Amino acid sequence: MISENNEVCLSIRELDERGDLDDQRLLMLIDTAAGDGYLFTAADRKRRLVYGDEIYLRGLIEFTNYCRNNCYYCGIRRDNKAAERYRLSDEQIMDCCRNGYALGYRTFVLQGGEDPYYTDSRICSIVSAIRSLYPDCAITLSLGEKARRSYQAYFDAGANRYLLRHETADPEHYRILHPEDMSLTNRKRCLFDLKEIGYQVGAGFMVGSPYQTHAHLLSDLRFLQDLRPDMIGIGPYITHKETPFAGFASGSLELTLRLLAILRLLFPYALIPATTALGSVHPQGRELGLKAGANVVMPNLSPVKVRRKYDLYENKICTGEDAAQCRACLERRVAAAGYHIVTAVGNARKEPFC
Ligand code: 5AD
Ligand code: FES
Repeated sequence: MISENNEVCLSIRELDERGDLDDQRLLMLIDTAAGDGYLFTAADRKRRLVYGDEIYLRGLIEFTNYCRNNCYYCGIRRDNKAAERYRLSDEQIMDCCRNGYALGYRTFVLQGGEDPYYTDSRICSIVSAIRSLYPDCAITLSLGEKARRSYQAYFDAGANRYLLRHETADPEHYRILHPEDMSLTNRKRCLFDLKEIGYQVGAGFMVGSPYQTHAHLLSDLRFLQDLRPDMIGIGPYITHKETPFAGFASGSLELTLRLLAILRLLFPYALIPATTALGSVHPQGRELGLKAGANVVMPNLSPVKVRRKYDLYENKICTGEDAAQCRACLERRVAAAGYHIVTAVGNARKEPFC
């Protein structure tokens, strides 16, 4: 037992110093809870080295829950006839930005299902309106898979960041989580297109999704090393009863925290959110995420009356609070965890050797 612990500690130390580990030892770290305390301490130290105690704010605007896709895990999938669909008008989106700006937000994240109503020209006109009113803000889009020319058009209109989780880097696992009309190849194509265009790119995956193995998680880490994203979003998979995966258990807080800490040591410079999903599986989930190496929080700016409808998974937090309440709540939580919120745009720090 002691020698196993030793090996775990030595591996964490090597990961900390070298920023990488061989497959076998990385897998051992994913597998074992024995080193968690040491791992979280190392991850927190690494984050403080690069980012100090700063936590970045991103204001999330969930502007449509219509989706043409049918991912088996997701509550807003096309075939969920129980979902109450909504779209925010351009005015409502601009109201969210105005409100957010007054509350100190300098990054707006426009997130939605893959909704054909929002043609490229509609997206471009929303992005340019935000860009011209808020030239000092970052505009992040999270609209799913698009053609390269669409990504280029949004970029030219003024968007500078894009979030698209790869969900799983294993092709067979991808096949199990998604219907035939989606492919990991296209997902990866999107991510590399976005990078080439010049976006700051965020990828990521769910922890504990149905049929996921630890070997899949290792593939996720290796894929991220290949992509070198600026942002990495992970959260526990959470069951939704109106999906084909209704019978599967949710992912665990513990494994998500372990992965967060491993990510911080592999990617010292990345922006890594303590996600809403993490906060939804444990009352202190986001605080624990910060202590394990996360450095971003993404409170919701959407109008309260639509929040409950952006129902990706069950028991989602923050569906009754308005933007000012979420802002104040996170301020308190972040401070209690030992960090402080900064309202700057908060670009990823650049690695010294690239
Ligand atoms: N549980 C947790 N996360 C989910 N997402 C979608 N459905 C679920 C779920 N049931 C995540 C996906 C997606 C992001 C917007 O939300 O990773 O990329
Ligand atoms: Fe929304 Fe706490 S962050 S209520």
